Formats: sequence, structure tokens, C-alpha cells
Amino acid sequence: MKKMLSILLAVMMVAALTVSLVGCGSEQAAPAGDEQEVLRVGMNAGFQPFEFKDENNEIVGFDIDIIEAMAQEMNMKVEYKDMDFGALITALNNGEFDVIASAMTIRDDRKEKADFTDPYFNAGQAIAVMKDNNEIAGLDDLNGKIVSGQSGTTGIIMMQEMKEKGELDVTVRDYPNIAQCFMDMGNGVVDAIVTDIGVVQRYAQQHPDIKIVGDTLSEEEYGMAVKKDNAELLDSLNAALDTIEENGTYDNIYEKWFMGE
Ligand code: ARG
Repeated sequence: MKKMLSILLAVMMVAALTVSLVGCGSEQAAPAGDEQEVLRVGMNAGFQPFEFKDENNEIVGFDIDIIEAMAQEMNMKVEYKDMDFGALITALNNGEFDVIASAMTIRDDRKEKADFTDPYFNAGQAIAVMKDNNEIAGLDDLNGKIVSGQSGTTGIIMMQEMKEKGELDVTVRDYPNIAQCFMDMGNGVVDAIVTDIGVVQRYAQQHPDIKIVGDTLSEEEYGMAVKKDNAELLDSLNAALDTIEENGTYDNIYEKWFMGE
């Protein structure tokens, strides 16, 4: 009888231990399974329709939908940091975020400082003037004029290079935000703006007093940038981009922002 009791006790103890171990295990597993890793994304959120703040001050845009869809494939959630465009690569390399998604053109000089994903969008530079401007109809007419653009962007870089080479006798004025360029053009402070065609098209749709003139000045591709030698993140971003391009998600997002307006 005494033996029976001790066996019973032993069985009960094992059972209790098992229950507590199982309980413990599932308690640990639950949060680990639910908690997604964060993908920290840096950008300059003043570049409609790619990344900008809506009326609720929320960051939205084509790039946002693309990176969100990619993050979903990677089972990650996204957090944003908004800053000056010209500061993005340095901030990336300082570890302030993991990836730049900011309509950033893939350029050789930028590739020296960061690694880029496969291209996700084709772009180019365009010239915008006020609709009633009859003097500027293309690139050559910028001679003797004041041209503006966003600091550190390909439009400004192109204007400065052409000026330095003596190809264009232009005064270049750069602003931290493209919105300020449009504002100063409206005020007659600058004559023209050179920036990404998608941005000019969107602005012209919303402001009928603006027009695009001349040819597209360049062929560019946007890529997302990660810190150099971060092959693991780069590979998973590229794989996620492939997936959303193949499964139709990319096309849906493209349509949302660029078609049927
Ligand atoms: N594509 C141009 C560049 O890479 C302009 C990008 C500006 N992007 C922005 N979010 N403000 O230089």
C-alpha cells in the first residue's frame, strides 16, 4: 500500500512536471511566433506619388506600397524614417535604418557607398515650367535661366554637370524639398524645375498652371539601397521583389498609383 502510494505520487509528479514544461514551452513559442521583425525604411517623404505625407500626415505612396508588399513576403513589418534626401545614404551607413526606399536612382557613385536591389522602376528627368512661359520649350532654352531642383538629386546633379562642362549657361538653385521648387517657380523666383518625370506629371495634374516641356533628359532606374556587404538582406529584398512582380502585386500597385486617373 505504501509502495502503491509512492508510485502514485511519482506518476503525479511526472504528470505535473510535464504539464508545467509543456505550458512553459508554449508560453515561449507564442510571442516568438507572433512578433515580426522590423524592417526600418528611410526616405524623403516629399516626392509625390512615390513617398509623401497624406492629409492625415501619414507616409504613403508607390514606394510605400511596394516595400510593404515586399516586407510582407519577408514576414517583417515596416517602420519609416523621413529625412533630407541628401542625408539618406550616410544615415543608412550609420545604422539609422536598414533600407532606403525613396525613388532613388541607381548611380555608380552611389553604388560605391551602398548596395542596390534590382531596379524596380524606370524614370527620367523632365523640365517643368509655368504654363504661361513661352520662352522655355526644351533643354537649350534653359541658357540664361534659373533652374531649380531638390538637393542631391539626379536633376540637380545633371544641371550642375552641364554647367561645369560649359554645355549650359544656367543658374542652379537647389532646395531641400521639391515642393519649395514649385512654390518658388509660382512666385517667379526660378524659371524652371528639373526633376523626375513621375513627380512632374503628378504635380501638373494637380496644378494646371504647370506644364512639362521638351524631351525626357535621362533614362534612370530606381533601386532600394542597403548597407554594403549586407548580402542576406539584399537577397531577401530581391527575392521578395521577384515574388511581387510574378504574383501580380507589383502590377496592382502600379495601377493604383499611375493608371486610370
Ligand atoms: N531619382 C532622383 C534621385 O535619385 C530623385 C529622388 C528623390 N527622392 C525623394 N524621395 N525625394 O536622385
